[in-house]
Amino acid sequence: MDVTVLMAMTLDGKIAQHADHFPDWTPPEDKRFFSERTRRAGVVIMGSRTFDTLGKPLPGRLNVVMTRDASRTSPWTNLLFTSDPPRRILAWLESLGYTEAIVAGGALVNSLFAAEGLIDRLVVTISPKIFGTGISLFSSEISMDLELEDVRRLGRDLVVLTYKVVRPVPG
Ligand SMILES: NC(=O)c1ccc[n+]([C@@H]2O[C@H](COP(=O)([O-])OP(=O)(O)OC[C@H]3O[C@@H](n4cnc5c(N)ncnc54)[C@H](OP(=O)(O)O)[C@@H]3O)[C@@H](O)[C@H]2O)c1
Repeated sequence: MDVTVLMAMTLDGKIAQHADHFPDWTPPEDKRFFSERTRRAGVVIMGSRTFDTLGKPLPGRLNVVMTRDASRTSPWTNLLFTSDPPRRILAWLESLGYTEAIVAGGALVNSLFAAEGLIDRLVVTISPKIFGTGISLFSSEISMDLELEDVRRLGRDLVVLTYKVVRPVPG
């Protein structure tokens, strides 16, 4: 299973100003890019706080929402709430035939995947914005070595950076 963290970021490295910040600050090209990438994978994994800023599942994709709240149930067929840990979610998705999963934040859920060494790639779109303060890509101490795979300009003001995660060689 290929795991890609796909995030929109400001030039000063923020993914939101605060936890319930509605994600409406990126240019239309970014929204199109996000939609294409997540539809191609067919599944998007996110934290309950991120889901709550959206309010409903992203259409045309399976939405897996991580929560510890067992009382949350979904009226949508393409939305699943789960308290399963990242590795078990990925194994389940693999058993359904998915080969790529997009992890779409927020910082806490990104950190859960990073802590278990499950991220293969980070795709970050840099928007022409500065927030000064706010939420970063990760919310805990994370150490990761990266290799730049691709740099692409999108529209007039966006840059898409693709990094591969370099895993330490065992032994
Ligand atoms: N710029 C971007 O591309 C982008 C992308 C995504 C999100 N965001 C922004 O990021 C912000 C939210 O990020 P965040 O870090 O605050 O929250 P988050 O990662 O979206 O969600 C955190 C939630 O995950 C659940 N959780 C925590 N540990 C868990 C575990 N071990 N197992 C299962 N569920 C667990 C908890 O929900 P319960 O309390 O329900 O248990 C926790 O409140 C929002 O402002 C959003 O707009 C930006």
